[in-house]
Amino acid sequence: MNEHANPATLSAQADELEERMMHELGERIATKSVLFRMADGKVEMENGAALKAANPDKYFLMGADSRLPKMPKKPTLIDFFNNRFASLNHLLQSATHALKGGHSEKVVLACLLHDIGVAGFIRCDHGYWGAQMIEPYVDEEVSWAVRAHQALRFFPDPSVGYEYPEMYIKYFGADYKPEPYIVAEYERAKKHKYYMTSRMICVNDIYSFDPNAKVDLNDFVDIIGRNFKQPEEGLGFDNSPSAHMWRTLMWPTRFL
Ligand SMILES: [Fe+2]
Ligand SMILES: [Fe+2]
Repeated sequence: MNEHANPATLSAQADELEERMMHELGERIATKSVLFRMADGKVEMENGAALKAANPDKYFLMGADSRLPKMPKKPTLIDFFNNRFASLNHLLQSATHALKGGHSEKVVLACLLHDIGVAGFIRCDHGYWGAQMIEPYVDEEVSWAVRAHQALRFFPDPSVGYEYPEMYIKYFGADYKPEPYIVAEYERAKKHKYYMTSRMICVNDIYSFDPNAKVDLNDFVDIIGRNFKQPEEGLGFDNSPSAHMWRTLMWPTRFL
């Protein structure tokens, strides 16, 4: 390395290179949404006109991003598991735990899907996002449980041996207190007819991952088949209230 090089210049060059590599997908330009940049602490968006002026012979990407695993024309839930969820281990371990515990298929499915918000979309309010994504395709009991686990995770229920997770003390500090909207959600959920279904997500929400545990998505294909109404047109193309969310997950770098 040139010892006289200015670190600021080097970093600007690295940014520029990253920017170039990020964008060039053959003849198409992939763009990052504002939300992706906020994760780097910047409230910024790409200027379409400037990007186009710098790449006059290229069009913006309006479909599949070739850097990501290819999705079929009519994607199923399993396709999203295999190609868009960053980690399956936690979901599969939780669902396996519920299955071995003799729980109903609804509870097992709820455990299998409870964190798809985190695995494929966004961490903040993941229970709400996940529930919204699956709502048109599962029994109300399942989506309700996924939504409410967002709040119930933070409150013990000694009647089923559920304590506040040790892990949360490590992650968030001993003095962390859930925000008022989470407390209010918990208070409402406690009185709901599906409370125990959501509570069972918490009970089976395995945080002590066993790297040697044998888990397999194939163990759940039948339960998914019986309890998840896979749309014939493919997830994203069935005009359901959450179809756009599945499309966004499929094509996260579309210009519009
Ligand atoms: Fe969760
Ligand atoms: Fe979880």
